[in-house]
Amino acid sequence: MTLAQSAPGPGGTSTTAPRTSRSTTADVRQNMLELLRQRPPRTSLEAPLYTDPAMFSLDIEGIFTTQWLFATTEAEIPDPGDYVTVDFGPVSLIIVRGDDGQINAMHNVCRHRGARVLTDRHGSTARLTCAYHSWTYATDGTLIHASSPGETFDRTCFALRRVHTRSVCGLIFVCAAAEPPTDIDDLEDTVKPYLAGFDIASAKVATRIDLMEEGNWKLTMENNRECYHCGGHPELACSLFATWGLTEDTVPPELSADWDRSLVADATLQQRCDRYGLPWQIVEHLTDRDVGYRISREALDKAGESFSVTGQRLSQKLMGDLPDFRLGRTSLHVQPNAWFHGLSDHVITFAAFPVSAERTLVRTTWLVAEDAVAGEDYDVDELTYVWRHTNAQDADFVQLAQQGVSSPGYVPGPYMRSEDQVEAFVTWYTAHMVDHLAGAESRRQS
Ligand code: FES
Ligand SMILES: [Fe+2]
Repeated sequence: MTLAQSAPGPGGTSTTAPRTSRSTTADVRQNMLELLRQRPPRTSLEAPLYTDPAMFSLDIEGIFTTQWLFATTEAEIPDPGDYVTVDFGPVSLIIVRGDDGQINAMHNVCRHRGARVLTDRHGSTARLTCAYHSWTYATDGTLIHASSPGETFDRTCFALRRVHTRSVCGLIFVCAAAEPPTDIDDLEDTVKPYLAGFDIASAKVATRIDLMEEGNWKLTMENNRECYHCGGHPELACSLFATWGLTEDTVPPELSADWDRSLVADATLQQRCDRYGLPWQIVEHLTDRDVGYRISREALDKAGESFSVTGQRLSQKLMGDLPDFRLGRTSLHVQPNAWFHGLSDHVITFAAFPVSAERTLVRTTWLVAEDAVAGEDYDVDELTYVWRHTNAQDADFVQLAQQGVSSPGYVPGPYMRSEDQVEAFVTWYTAHMVDHLAGAESRRQS
């Protein structure tokens, strides 16, 4: 499969944001703008930004229908007709492999009277048929059947509305804006040398798990962006150095042995990568662009092969054309809704999809080598053990945070130095929402 970016085709692209509730008035916009502009640096957000349904609607409008979002992988839709649906707020999108092999993304909204067309989270279908009155669409969104005895109308005007889609090394991003941010090109240029060897597009889906977190999507993302809480992840801590996110001058005395071990492991990994011609350097652009990201290749503890209790491989087949099982973890963070871990034996993708102000769906997908056989080369329970537990623990942390920020006793608190990426996420979010809200305000006044 080739890297692909599809331009809007039949039906045109989305040019309007989803409807917001009646309570999303100019006052709410102004209030949100002031809360964002007044945030002191390195301080968590004010409570309404985590709890207010009207501000949640503005997040969907200002971030989720404006920016590139990670949706799925090419591995999950290998053949024509294979599809995945993703929902965020009131928006539902279909990502489907077209009959011509291209990736198409469309609003999951029938052009007759608006019914949701596909209701499963993934599947395969030759045609997309609305259950209400049976309007039927091709995999590129073209309306190909609408029974209308006694009348004629131009079916070409009623294709499903397209959104932009882009595959970056097999990771599929979608954007519902009329003009998507262009710096996704920079993301691809940078991450390709790190990710190409995994051959994500040709990988096999071992399993995927949807987990509902009882918290605002920003709390989900903030939680992902730090390891200050990793003492609460005993399974993950077996292979992830407990010093991740720390620097020499912030390592507490009880972790000094771990710190020394991680330095040796990283130096060994870097020498190995240099021998293979693989990049390992940290590249970080989390705040200075629309498609903010950070990528790195870092050592794992113990056997250094995978996210397992022993650090040993969980699948016996190497991903893609990787040359060695001891390549640590290649970790990619992309604003606003995704993170990824590439191990030599498997890849894990994580996507956060906001459901409401206080609920977020986290979709985790485990990919293994194309020729890996379940029960022979890997065991799904073992493969998913660490991150099933880690995700459940994170869901508990997010719920605790949501409960706290919902209390009248909450006041914003400080980010520690080990929470630099939390600050980067909130800075990115704040800048983009301020741009969106201020732009809307000036358009309203002109
Ligand atoms: S709403 Fe889909 S066919 Fe009528
Ligand atoms: Fe965590």
